[in-house]
Amino acid sequence: MTVSPAPVVAVIVVAAGSGTRLGAAGPKAFQPVNGRPMLEHALTGVFQMSEPAQVIVVAPPALEGDARAIADRVAGPLSGLVSVVAGGDSRQESVARGLAIVADGIRCVLVHDAARALTPAAQFDAVVAAVRATGSGIVPGLAVIDTIKQVDADGRILGTVDRSELAAVQTPQGFPRDLLDQVVAAAGDLTDAVTDDAALVAAAGHPVQVIAGDQLAFKITTPWDLRRAELLLAADLGAPDAAADRAAPRVGTGVDVHAFAVAPATTRDPAPGAADAASIAGLWLAGLHWPGEPALAGHSDGDAVSHAVCDALLSAAGLGDIGGVFGTSDARLAGAHGEVFLRETLRRVGEAGFRVGNVSVQVIGNRPKLAPRRDEAEALLGGILNAPVSLSATTTDALGFTGRGEGIAAIATALVYRLPGLPGAGSPHLSWDA
Ligand code: CTP
Ligand code: MG
Repeated sequence: MTVSPAPVVAVIVVAAGSGTRLGAAGPKAFQPVNGRPMLEHALTGVFQMSEPAQVIVVAPPALEGDARAIADRVAGPLSGLVSVVAGGDSRQESVARGLAIVADGIRCVLVHDAARALTPAAQFDAVVAAVRATGSGIVPGLAVIDTIKQVDADGRILGTVDRSELAAVQTPQGFPRDLLDQVVAAAGDLTDAVTDDAALVAAAGHPVQVIAGDQLAFKITTPWDLRRAELLLAADLGAPDAAADRAAPRVGTGVDVHAFAVAPATTRDPAPGAADAASIAGLWLAGLHWPGEPALAGHSDGDAVSHAVCDALLSAAGLGDIGGVFGTSDARLAGAHGEVFLRETLRRVGEAGFRVGNVSVQVIGNRPKLAPRRDEAEALLGGILNAPVSLSATTTDALGFTGRGEGIAAIATALVYRLPGLPGAGSPHLSWDA
């Protein structure tokens, strides 16, 4: 059994504030944000850090049990790493209470506001890495965008502050453990005048460095901020991959095989009843008629290329396969040409919310020689599907049923795109209603 090494990083999550400016019924960190307590969102980022950390939740004295339940839910098997302590009257007092129970082996302490509930895990990792690299205090921050004025009590402008020298700082703020212990112990009576940990450390004469923060780490302070957090969560903007996934193309594969209606006499006896009307009429393949070539057997015209393309398109659009859509014995499809299947497939793919990007299909067999009519076949199939179709052919070096001249196989790949504003993949239609 491997024993994980004890963590060397601790994260103190301060969640003991009342949230006066939010104006909710109870303490801010326990207010729901899209149905889950703000603290739960905040801890989700903490537990997604790349290295496990000791986690200390500082909660209002009456809500330590609630905080424990939330932390256990997020931590899962790592719940042994979590402690909950009661906070104090000011943020700094709460930080001091958390700091008092940091474990012995911890080298680096991060202090994080539960109110910055959407802070990505990468921001925690970046702060830890920067503390390690510099040995000094690290604070994530963003450039200030607004023009900042200094004003007096009557609202008169006294001057403009040079914003190029300003940073709006966030949390987590990270420090070497010994440094934070020493500074907090020396600070004595901790009031709300100090609103962050970097201020204490800097006031004690130690360097604190700003690294790039993240817009998602904004602090939920007012009802407007809460609304913003809810909209971001609802739109999944915290996970931009969702939108990209919807826009991504989808691929599908289709394979079809048909035997020649009359197999070469040397290798195979004709199947009973195989020499039907189709074999007399000649071969149909890739939507084209090939007079003089041996016909393929099948309920329809046996056009393996068209059928493989239909299967690839249906699969890409999540609509099942050709057997499920068209059935294998519909009397209306006796002798039907590939074009009939392709047009109906295209209609269904469009109805399900997709357009065709392109189709590639390879024919495997000894004959017919495709090259002389490749352009003609590509133009015909591409015209039906209103998308580029490329056709290639190969033999199998005399191996297998294709090598023995018993039949033809076709393998198709199709790419489809979602049409904007349409629902996407629909449910398979299992009956033929053309
Ligand atoms: N905090 C704390 N203990 C306090 C005060 C604040 O743990 N006595 C925490 C808050 O829970 C919050 C973080 O410090 O996660 C930042 O504080 P702030 O956003 O100001 O929260 P509140 O003090 O709760 O809000 P308000 O100032 O509007 O009352
Ligand atoms: Mg406050």
